[in-house]
Amino acid sequence: MTVRVAVNGYGTIGKRVADAVVRQPDMKLAGIADIRPNFEIRTARAKGYPVFVTGTGTPEQFRSEDLDVAGHLADLIHASDVIVDCSPESIGKVNAKVYQDAGIPCIFQGGEKADVATISFSALANFDAARGKKQVRVVSCNTTAICRAASVLLPAFGVDHWEATLIRRAADPAEVAKGPIDGILPSFKVPSHQGPDVQTVIPGLSITTTALSVSTTLMHVHSNQVRLSRPPASIREVIDRFRASPRFHLFREGDRVSGTPQVMEYGRDRVLNGRPDVPENILWEHGIHLVGAQLYFFQAIHQESIVVPETIDAIRAMLGLAPDAASSIEMTDRSLGIPRPVALAPAAAVPAAAA
Ligand SMILES: NC(=O)c1ccc[n+]([C@@H]2O[C@H](COP(=O)([O-])OP(=O)(O)OC[C@H]3O[C@@H](n4cnc5c(N)ncnc54)[C@H](O)[C@@H]3O)[C@@H](O)[C@H]2O)c1
Repeated sequence: MTVRVAVNGYGTIGKRVADAVVRQPDMKLAGIADIRPNFEIRTARAKGYPVFVTGTGTPEQFRSEDLDVAGHLADLIHASDVIVDCSPESIGKVNAKVYQDAGIPCIFQGGEKADVATISFSALANFDAARGKKQVRVVSCNTTAICRAASVLLPAFGVDHWEATLIRRAADPAEVAKGPIDGILPSFKVPSHQGPDVQTVIPGLSITTTALSVSTTLMHVHSNQVRLSRPPASIREVIDRFRASPRFHLFREGDRVSGTPQVMEYGRDRVLNGRPDVPENILWEHGIHLVGAQLYFFQAIHQESIVVPETIDAIRAMLGLAPDAASSIEMTDRSLGIPRPVALAPAAAVPAAAA
């Protein structure tokens, strides 16, 4: 079975989702929609993607820029089985009414509030909860990163409490009008919104997050302190668990990766989904420490790409395209070129009761 996928909003996330859809064996890109023509839309046409007009946009605007248009959002919806809303924060809520009236299953991104959808989603944490749902929200980049890490640590070691400080990139690379250009801006609200957002996916997790924005566009970095309920005998067990999970990459000390610039250089060297993206949680083995029951680790998050494989899995979960999370994740990661995890030695398998 091949499902037809529409992407509404063709910016940072939308264009990556569209590129990922065309790589899936069980999906076809029905088209992309946006409100205005620009170089990204021109590139979409060069790739052969059908372009539709949405929101306040008009076909005349596109045609005046020599961009042919296949129709309006309503035409795209008519030609699709599911729509992925990648419009700017808070616009998804407005678009939700259009999708609901058309009766089309829809996926929203993390800039929307949780109540835009029936559930909030992160593939490793709650794939099955999205089965058959008509409205699903893929949580934001920072929330996805914590949900993934919690999905590794919770079954293996239990978590009594999680503290995370999020050092956030100020803007995406193309967002030239956003700042700060020079400065560190604390978010004075505690918890910052990401902690409660994680709880929309993993309700029982005790977590407090704080956040600061810094003058960089490349990635976010999280400093995590996690009190484990069943701490392992050695830090090696923690490293092996992360290595055994899909969508994690751990650098070793000898890799000489001192921070986000080299992580992105790693992305440029290998190229996934046609881009220099790094959709995995990036950890440093030598940055993972255990002091008693307290686990410390850092993770770097490429905000532009981490939610893309999650969005593909959300489509499969909603439309019943995969029997379980593992097979969907494997299909997504294989098609995008995300390296497969390293299997745990049999003796280290998760005990059934803890899983
Ligand atoms: N960029 C990130 O780092 C990031 C990471 C994770 C999640 N998200 C979330 O993804 C969503 C999209 O963010 P983005 O960074 O791709 O934004 P973006 O500004 O890069 O792209 C949004 C696109 O939507 C278009 N648009 C404007 N009005 C529209 C409408 N009414 N209907 C459809 N499209 C419209 C814009 O022209 C633009 O091309 C937001 O919810 C955001 O919070 C962003």
